[in-house]
Amino acid sequence: MGTKIACFPSLIPFAAIFGIGLGAACIHIQSMSILKIAKMGHPVLQMNAEPVADPTAPEVRRLAADMVETMMDAPGTGLAAPQVHVPLRIVVFFVSAERTGEDADDTAVPLTVLINPEIEVIGDEYEEAWEGCLSLPGLTGAVERPYRIRYCGVTPNGEIIEREAAGFHARVVQHECDHLDGVLYPMRMDDLSKFAFVEEIVKAHDADEDQAAEAN
Ligand code: NI
Repeated sequence: MGTKIACFPSLIPFAAIFGIGLGAACIHIQSMSILKIAKMGHPVLQMNAEPVADPTAPEVRRLAADMVETMMDAPGTGLAAPQVHVPLRIVVFFVSAERTGEDADDTAVPLTVLINPEIEVIGDEYEEAWEGCLSLPGLTGAVERPYRIRYCGVTPNGEIIEREAAGFHARVVQHECDHLDGVLYPMRMDDLSKFAFVEEIVKAHDADEDQAAEAN
């Protein structure tokens, strides 16, 4: 927990992301764009993305703001720059309180922009969970991933974020950073019988529940 609190000043406030300058003389609201999302099969999703030379460049801030708007509109919990056809090492994500687990490190995470991220796996614990991806709309798959990681990266303010993460938080960061190396979640799956359309999984789940209700 201490690590996360220490990192809070590094998070980009919404106002900074959205380019809202609350100066006394004027209020400047920068317009944002919802970007087109690349789908599985597009070459940009198969590339090794390039490191960002200057994370504090205005065009990086602008891209990050557009990525956040695109993610929120979709809606999604994370987005990587290659998914909006930009092969640069930038990811945006957040973890809402509803998605967190019991673990002390599996906590809610405010909206985060991470440039040139690095991940280090901690321990040898793995967990399987269902994932979705805005580049594979309507699909879901069960993916086994390291349960606990340490990650770092730079914000558009040039600040360094360093955190430990577990559970869903760790999964989101790994999923998004995979996009920077041309990896989509089905490439991490070892049991493709657990690759499915969300609507079919929901139907099957509802049918199970009905059967259980009848049995009672
Ligand atoms: Ni994805």
